[in-house]
Amino acid sequence: MNKDKFKHYKIDEWTVSEVDLDFNYLNKSETLFSQGNGYLSVRGGFEEVYYGEQRNTFVSGVFNTVQGEHEVAELVNIADFTNTEIYVNGERFVMNPYNTKSYKRQMNYQTGELKRTLEWTTRDGIDLSIEFKRFVSLEDKHLLCASVSLLANKPCQITIVKSINGMVTNHGASHFEAGEMKYEAKKIGQFNQTTTQSQVTVSINSISNAYLNSAFVESFPQKTIGRRDLVSKYNFDLEENQELVLETISNVYTDRDLDHEPLNDVGLNQLIEVSNCRYDYFYDLNKIAWQKFWDLHDIRVESNDVIYQLNIRFALYHLRLMTPVHDNRMGIGAKGFTGEDYKGHSFWDTEIFILPFWIMSDPEVARNLLIYRYKLLNSAKEKAQRNGYLGAMYPWESGWITDLECTPEWGNIDVVTNKREPIWTGKKQIHITADIIYAMMQYVKMTGDQGFLDDYGYEMIYETAKFWTSRLEYNQEKDRYEILDVIGPDEYCEHIDNNAFTNYMCYWNIELAVQTFEKVDIKKYGQDSDLEQMKSILKKIYIPASDETGLIAQDDSYLNLSEFPELQRYKFEEKPLAIFKKYSMVHLHDYQVSKQADMVMLMLILKDKFSNQEILRNFDYYEQRTLHDSSLSYSMHAILAGQLNMPYYKDMFEKALEVDLNDDAQIAKTGIHAASIGGIWQNYVFALAGIGYYDGKLSIDPKMIDTIDQITFKLFYKGELLSFKVTERSVDIENLSRQNELEVYIMNKAYTLIESLSIELE
Ligand code: BGC
Repeated sequence: MNKDKFKHYKIDEWTVSEVDLDFNYLNKSETLFSQGNGYLSVRGGFEEVYYGEQRNTFVSGVFNTVQGEHEVAELVNIADFTNTEIYVNGERFVMNPYNTKSYKRQMNYQTGELKRTLEWTTRDGIDLSIEFKRFVSLEDKHLLCASVSLLANKPCQITIVKSINGMVTNHGASHFEAGEMKYEAKKIGQFNQTTTQSQVTVSINSISNAYLNSAFVESFPQKTIGRRDLVSKYNFDLEENQELVLETISNVYTDRDLDHEPLNDVGLNQLIEVSNCRYDYFYDLNKIAWQKFWDLHDIRVESNDVIYQLNIRFALYHLRLMTPVHDNRMGIGAKGFTGEDYKGHSFWDTEIFILPFWIMSDPEVARNLLIYRYKLLNSAKEKAQRNGYLGAMYPWESGWITDLECTPEWGNIDVVTNKREPIWTGKKQIHITADIIYAMMQYVKMTGDQGFLDDYGYEMIYETAKFWTSRLEYNQEKDRYEILDVIGPDEYCEHIDNNAFTNYMCYWNIELAVQTFEKVDIKKYGQDSDLEQMKSILKKIYIPASDETGLIAQDDSYLNLSEFPELQRYKFEEKPLAIFKKYSMVHLHDYQVSKQADMVMLMLILKDKFSNQEILRNFDYYEQRTLHDSSLSYSMHAILAGQLNMPYYKDMFEKALEVDLNDDAQIAKTGIHAASIGGIWQNYVFALAGIGYYDGKLSIDPKMIDTIDQITFKLFYKGELLSFKVTERSVDIENLSRQNELEVYIMNKAYTLIESLSIELE
């Protein structure tokens, strides 16, 4: 990738800017310019409305299900309170290429602030300089602060209309009953709304203050309370070259929040207290909070191409944005916190793609994300029971901790068949159960947190292994246990038998249970006979091995299917998922065509089960048949390719980086891809720096690419905070905590890290 690929966007190491007013980029920029803090988020829409926009405001954990056969719980779009309409002598401010000059909108990932500046000319020829700024505070998760400033070259009348607009939906689904609304102290608006089924009350409060040439001017709005909106209108007479600034401080609270109880007027009272504080006051606090984040988590990159630096910062920014670090009753949505798609649900994306970042960057957050899965055990048990199994069968898609399986059963109407597409993943994509346990053990290995195992982990290991023992089917003829009718990670292969990924992970999960309960008393969780049963089943689980040509079958049928005739077209020419313009899912079942890493995924996460020769052979074979139609694909291919010095490495690495942060107006319009963002971080740390875990110790085996000279970063490992500097020829590690000595492997050689190590690589 090269920074020159960016035409619409201008980039530097912290920012992405647009300097052309091009409405083709409306949705793309909303995604890239999203703001939030893991509790509250807003997409980066304009303050004034435009046709085709997709405004979204979310609060984590606020899920609701509307009535209807095909409906499931979804993260709801709460009332929009960023909307600001401006009128100059009665003319509504709407940008178009003829009336707008010097347009610039910049998202600063270092501070989370989005700023727009422009010159606008009214039909009567009045020129105005306008600046909009806003941020969602990282310091106080409830706050969003916004500011608009106007300066005109002639006297004029300005009207600014600020609204809290509850007339929003999730793709047309209306989730709220209108609640109480009121004004307090003549100018603090309060808007309450309650979800129809989950009965969560969301309370939004907002206050605006005006300043003329920096001096405060008392201004009370004309107030309107409608059926589902609250509108505050401010009028000003502006003199020539006088600057008007209207600053708005808003907050959001819900009765699901843990930091106050009951809801009462907590938000309103907060605004009364801070009603005189300026935007900059909150901004400075927010900036300090982000700086703390960057001090610990930044990965500094030395390269001639700034894109590598920006890309990892973009990823880190979104990792923070998407994660509810304040609460362990909700997970991370597959679109991060930037869009309605996937309904805010958590998938295996969290554990396999995102959790590694938190495990090594802030283990406490990783722990909370795993406690979320512990809290979902009841839903998982219920799912197992409903499907006729034992133990815990984790939902493929999850929302709030008490929600059951959230995967919809039906998708959109297929344009090829005109029939509604069934979605099988909720019933058949069962590997998630083992993925969660796998991730949990990564956490335990990297942190040594025995307490987690005692309090939650052992129970999760027991219940999931129990599920697998009931899900396996005994094949008398072959004298082995098999797993039939599943979907593996590769979602283009449905209803397949013995998906290698699923079988290996199932084996791994039961083996872990056996090893665990040989040491830990199983009676706390089940019976001695469970252990005996697990042991005897384990011996006979079918684990596909390489055939005479070195291939491991992705499932029982894959290698017997025909080659896909249009592979080249859909792999290289068309955009991701273009295949569905011509084919429907059932057609794809006839071909060796994969959506995403499946065998490759398996060989990456259970690498020591395969020889290098097997990995190279199978990587080649399956990659050639993979369209990378899922954003989860390139990043995992890249890491494995890097670790094994494959020629694909750099190309895959760069493609992984481009999934969301690119110049294509059509890609990522509906939100970022959270798993891919986690995959980017993994590429810097697990591929470039080559951080791994070998023989019970931290290992470092750098695989730098020629366009990156050096990376520096910090990681937690077994309670120590380590800082790393990695180049192609050297590794420097410093133990910043200095509590314990650590044994580490650098390029397969053992070293003791006391305070620091500086190693030249051969
Ligand atoms: C992918 C899944 C992924 C889901 C959510 C699907 O398109 O195939 O692997 O979990 O998206 O990101």
